Amino acid sequence: MITVIANLKGGSGKSTVAFNLAIWLVKQGRRVVGYDLDPQCTFSDLGMLRDEIGVRPNLEIHSVRAVLRDQLLSHTDCEVLVDVGAANMAAMKEAMTSADRILVPVPPSQADVWATQRFLHIIGPDTEAMKFNGNQHTIAFINRADTNKSIRETHETEEALRTLPGIDMVMPQRLRMRTSFRRSLSEGLAVFEMWPGSKAAGEFGSFAHALYPDIAANQN
Ligand SMILES: Nc1ncnc2c1ncn2[C@@H]1O[C@H](COP(=O)(O)OP(=O)(O)OP(=O)(O)O)[C@@H](O)[C@H]1O
Ligand SMILES: [Mg+2]
Repeated sequence: MITVIANLKGGSGKSTVAFNLAIWLVKQGRRVVGYDLDPQCTFSDLGMLRDEIGVRPNLEIHSVRAVLRDQLLSHTDCEVLVDVGAANMAAMKEAMTSADRILVPVPPSQADVWATQRFLHIIGPDTEAMKFNGNQHTIAFINRADTNKSIRETHETEEALRTLPGIDMVMPQRLRMRTSFRRSLSEGLAVFEMWPGSKAAGEFGSFAHALYPDIAANQN
């Protein structure tokens, strides 16, 4: 399955999610190929950092400026994860035309809802971006949700996302704001590698299982 992790707004958590998901999938026994289409190269730098420090499993991540549809579709029998950035819109659109699904991380704020709305407008089925394949599922989820339940922004953002045309599903599994995501990333580790029993690891596990339910079924 080809999953593109995308949103227009910088810092929404695309690379963090792509990286953690890649390692999680490999640890579940899946073959994973990553593509990093962002000139910032965060996803591929993280893969290289793991190589340098000798952490296993290592990741296969291609850092490219453009990706051909045929290239993405050629990977059979493995999970393809594509990290993109707004700095390379052409590549972002190209990858999205081939995707089975587009995973959209959204931090809890009104500005992020607006940015997501703009993004959905750009990728809408009537636009050139989707001319090859109108079957993509667009799945949004809250990243950096407030850990304090009394703060309303997370709930309000989720409600707002549900009303946006172009979003097929808002995941109930949120990723909360946890410094462990930032700290593990700087060590080239997934959050569940660095702190296996942490709340962040548990939340990430629920999130990943929801995205890959066949793995969840095998495990339970
Ligand atoms: N749930 C989270 N809790 C805490 N920190 C997070 C979380 N998700 C991401 N971060 C941190 O936020 C920062 C930005 O995340 P990331 O680089 O993944 O965003 P991005 O969408 O890829 O940004 P860009 O558009 O610049 O590529 C990183 O330092 C990352 O570790
Ligand atoms: Mg990034």
